Amino acid sequence: MSTADWKNYEPVIIPDIKDLDKIDVYVKNGGYKALESILKDKKKWADPKSVINEVKEANIRGRGGAGFNAGLKWSFMPPADGGPRYLACNGDESEPGTFKDRKIFEYNPHIFIEGALIAAYAMEITTIYVYIRGEYKAYIDMMEKAIADAYEKGYIGKNILGSGYSVDFYVTYGAGAYICGEETSMLESLEGKRGYPRVKPPFPAQKGLWGRPTTINNIETLAHVPSVINRGAEWFKSVGAENHPGAFLYGISGHVKRPGVYELPSGVPVLELINDVAGGMRNGKKLKAVIPGGSSTPVLRADQLDEITMDSDSLRTVGSMVGTAGMVIMDEDTDMVDVLWRIAHFYHHESCGQCTPCREGTGWLEKILLKIKNGEGEVKDLDLLLDLTTQMEGRTICALADAAAWPVRYTINRFRDEFEARCKKKVHVIA
Ligand SMILES: Cc1cc2nc3c(=O)[nH]c(=O)nc-3n(C[C@H](O)[C@H](O)[C@H](O)COP(=O)(O)O)c2cc1C
Ligand code: SF4
Repeated sequence: MSTADWKNYEPVIIPDIKDLDKIDVYVKNGGYKALESILKDKKKWADPKSVINEVKEANIRGRGGAGFNAGLKWSFMPPADGGPRYLACNGDESEPGTFKDRKIFEYNPHIFIEGALIAAYAMEITTIYVYIRGEYKAYIDMMEKAIADAYEKGYIGKNILGSGYSVDFYVTYGAGAYICGEETSMLESLEGKRGYPRVKPPFPAQKGLWGRPTTINNIETLAHVPSVINRGAEWFKSVGAENHPGAFLYGISGHVKRPGVYELPSGVPVLELINDVAGGMRNGKKLKAVIPGGSSTPVLRADQLDEITMDSDSLRTVGSMVGTAGMVIMDEDTDMVDVLWRIAHFYHHESCGQCTPCREGTGWLEKILLKIKNGEGEVKDLDLLLDLTTQMEGRTICALADAAAWPVRYTINRFRDEFEARCKKKVHVIA
C-alpha cells in the first residue's frame, strides 16, 4: 500500500476489535499463529536464522527512536553456547511527547508478547524481560495478566506448543528515571543497579545482561514482527515510505482537536496527520510548530512543513527526524521560549550525571533559558547557548546529552526572532 492510500490502511496492532487484550479474543482473531508457524512449519521456517532473515528483509526500523533495522540487530547475536541469552523489551517510554507503547500494553498486549517470543526463538534466547516505566502501574498489571494467560495457554514456558523450545518471560519496571530507557542503563537497572549507561563497546549483543548476549528492542518494534511472519517481508515493505517501511503508531498530542494514537503507514504528510487524522487545530488557531518524534527531535516551523512526510528521508530534508513519531503540535499562541525552557528543565533533571558535558551542560542550558524566559537575558546569551550545544554533542557516554542539545540548537535557530525579542524586552535602568 502506497502512502497516498493511507486512508485505506487497516490497522494491525490496534485494530477496532473489542476486548482484544483478552487472550481468547486475540487467538480468535489469528493471534499466536505466527508463533505457531515458526515453531512448527519447518518447510517454511527451516531454522531460527530463517526467521531473522525474513525480519531483516522487512526492514522494521526500530521504533524506539534510532531507527535501526531490527533483523540486522538480531543477526549480531553470537552463536548460542548453551548459556543464558536475553531479550530486553524496552517499554520505558519516558520521552515527552511519546505515548504509543502504552496503547499496545493497554489495547493489544499479546501482539507484543507474540513478537517478543518470535524474536526470542530467532535469537535462541532463553529469557525475556519487559521493562515498563513505573508510572504505568495500570499497564504493568495488565501486562502481568497477559503474560500469565499466555503461560497458561502454553505460548510461554517449557516446550512451547510441543516444539521443544522453552523461554521465560518476566515483567519488570522502572522507578521514574528517563535515563533507564537508554538501553545499557536499562540493563543496569534490570540487574538491580543504579541506571547508569554503560560505555560501548562492548555492545549488549556481546556483553549484555549479567555479561551475556542480549538484544534490546522497543515494544512497538516487536509488535510489528507477527505481521511480518504472517504476511511476509514483501508485504511489510509495501506499506508506507520505501526507506522506512511499515506502519507507525503516531502519537499526536498538543493543540489539535483529536489527540491520540493512530496506526497508519509511515510517510503520511505531516499536515494531513494534523488536519485529517487529528481533526485540525483547536479553536480555529493557526499552526505554529511541530516536534515530529518526541522532545529530542528538532522542532519544525509551520512554513517548513509543506510536502513533508513522516519518514526519515523526508524529515531529513528539513533538518529533523522521525524519532518515535510522537508528534507535538503547537498553535500560534505557543511561547517557544517557555517550551524550550520546559524541555531543557526535563533533560537537566534526567541527566544521570556521569559525564561532565551532560551534567554541567544541561544545567547551564536550563539556567540560561530561565534567565531569558524571565526577561533578563541578552542576545549574546543565545550564541552562548548555541556554543554550549556544540560542546555537549557527541562527547558523552550516551545520547541524552545530544537529546538535550538538539532542541536548544534548533528551536533557537528556527525561532530566533522570538528569542531575541524576549531578550530585547529587558529594561535597563540607568541611574
Ligand atoms: C536517554 C535515552 C532514553 C531512551 N528511552 C527509550 C525508551 O523509553 N524506549 C525505547 O524503546 N528506547 C529508548 N531509547 C533508545 C534505546 O536506547 C534503544 O535504542 C531502543 O530501545 C532500541 O530498540 P529499537 O531498536 O527497537 O528501537 C532511549 C535512548 C536514550 C539515549
Ligand atoms: S550523557 Fe548524560 S545521561 Fe548519558 S551517561 Fe552521560 S551524564 Fe549520564
